[in-house]
Amino acid sequence: MSAPGNIPHHIAIVMDGNGRWATRRFLPRVAGHKKGVDALRACVRHCGDIGVKVLTVFAFSSENWNRPAEEVSGLMELLALALSREVPQLQSEGVRIHFIGERAGLSDKVRNGLAQAEAATAGNDRLVFNICFNYGGRWDIAQAAARLAARGEAVTEQSMDRAMALAHVPDPDLLIRTGGEQRISNFLLWQAAYSELYFTDKLWPEFDAAAIDEAIADYAGRERRFGRTSEQVAAPAGAKRKAA
Ligand code: FPP
Repeated sequence: MSAPGNIPHHIAIVMDGNGRWATRRFLPRVAGHKKGVDALRACVRHCGDIGVKVLTVFAFSSENWNRPAEEVSGLMELLALALSREVPQLQSEGVRIHFIGERAGLSDKVRNGLAQAEAATAGNDRLVFNICFNYGGRWDIAQAAARLAARGEAVTEQSMDRAMALAHVPDPDLLIRTGGEQRISNFLLWQAAYSELYFTDKLWPEFDAAAIDEAIADYAGRERRFGRTSEQVAAPAGAKRKAA
């Protein structure tokens, strides 16, 4: 399938289903996460190619610490390895990496890998790639409020927007979740207020370029009203939204 029109500026993804993908093949769950890295690499490339400007992925949630120790350490290792292997290629593709999440609690190796990836790609602007790792939507709202309180700043929607971990990008237009579940699971609670939601039964390792195009085609057929009526949307005067 070729890339559809009306490409979302910002796509966010809950990459679910790695464990099931592996279990169905009698493989350890970490093998599913490895396959998930392959799918993620292809996804970043395709998003850049079709003109998506921001891609935000949920790679490790604040709640994922509760998984078996072997899986948690496997995911940490995988992130460190993926960063060291993939950054040169991402760099050449004009991808700018941002780490979104709580750095405290991560090992020095992971923290340094993330900092190096951010520094190495800081000059790129073709695609902003936000990796949410040790991240939770509630954590983000709480840290933003705490930051404003520490500065003695009034809490308003605008000041909160500026203090959130994704302040450098507009809100996601399309939020995709693979793996068949239909919930947000503490991802982008603040930023997804007006995102179009797209759920698919495909497991993350199977979510390829054609599947991304399918999700975008579905998105392109929707009417985004941002609280307005269909008639107002049809009349351009006064049509206004928060960001590009
Ligand atoms: C959810 O699938 C997926 C995760 C918790 C990890 C997502 C990670 C990757 C796609 C690869 C790693 C990427 C980096 C950057 C390290 P699940 O394990 O909950 O699957 P299940 O619902 O089938 O058990």
